[in-house]
Amino acid sequence: MSYPSRSSSLRHALRFALGAVGAAALLAAAPARAQEPVQPIAPAKVTNPAKVELGKKLWFDPRLSRSGFISCNSCHNLSMGGSDNLKTSIGDKWQKGPINSPTVLNSSLNLAQFWDGRAKDLKEQAGGPIANPGEMAFSHDLAVDMLRSIPQYVGEFKKVFGHDKLGIGEVTAAIAAFGLVPMLFASGPGSEVQRPLAIVVIGGLITSTALTLVLLPVLFRRFGVDQTVRFGAGKGFPHD
Ligand code: HEC
Repeated sequence: MSYPSRSSSLRHALRFALGAVGAAALLAAAPARAQEPVQPIAPAKVTNPAKVELGKKLWFDPRLSRSGFISCNSCHNLSMGGSDNLKTSIGDKWQKGPINSPTVLNSSLNLAQFWDGRAKDLKEQAGGPIANPGEMAFSHDLAVDMLRSIPQYVGEFKKVFGHDKLGIGEVTAAIAAFGLVPMLFASGPGSEVQRPLAIVVIGGLITSTALTLVLLPVLFRRFGVDQTVRFGAGKGFPHD
């Protein structure tokens, strides 16, 4: 019976290292992004940050519901992927809704809103849940009255829209402006560098592993660690 000689295992390791470096090079030379069928979405352009900020406050404000307990975020929890991860959502008076809440992340890119597409965009959609008896169970008038009773909200609406009118149109416009922002998570300014960075990191890992594999046998030889000892030489093994 013959065991691979040290020089042949060195050759193996070398071949592996070269292969790994080659694979990393291939990865780096992957076809230009322009030819890929799935393109990254354009980063959100925030033209009016104050409007987005106001929309964010409304998004998290449970006072827009009759019970004072339910906000948009209850069913579209932004820290849980923009959904409640329940089979069907729980609305006013713990009512179990008829349907699953979809994620709101990137929902501004949808052709239409809701599972059946009945709302044309985020602005048209945003008024729905506030007045839906199974969701926030409020009315648009009550929601607007509530907001008008809070001087900070009144001031902020005035600053954002440049007029004194605070109606449901302004409320839904602000929420819709915030609705665009989760896109930032999907393709922020940093996404440009992510791919090359990943290639460098993965390539580096493969190369360093391969180099270690090459170096180890050399070091073993240099410092006199005989591989035969590890195979149990002297204990009746076949090559004794
Ligand atoms: C009680 C739970 C609940 C609350 C509160 C709620 N939603 Fe929803 N949301 C849903 C459900 C369920 C759907 C799917 C309904 C359908 O398709 O018929 C939905 C759908 C949506 C969609 C459509 C997403 C898509 O991919 O079609 C958006 C956007 C949205 N909600 C935003 C909001 C906003 C803004 C608020 C707050 C004003 C809000 N939701 C409050 C449960 C809720």
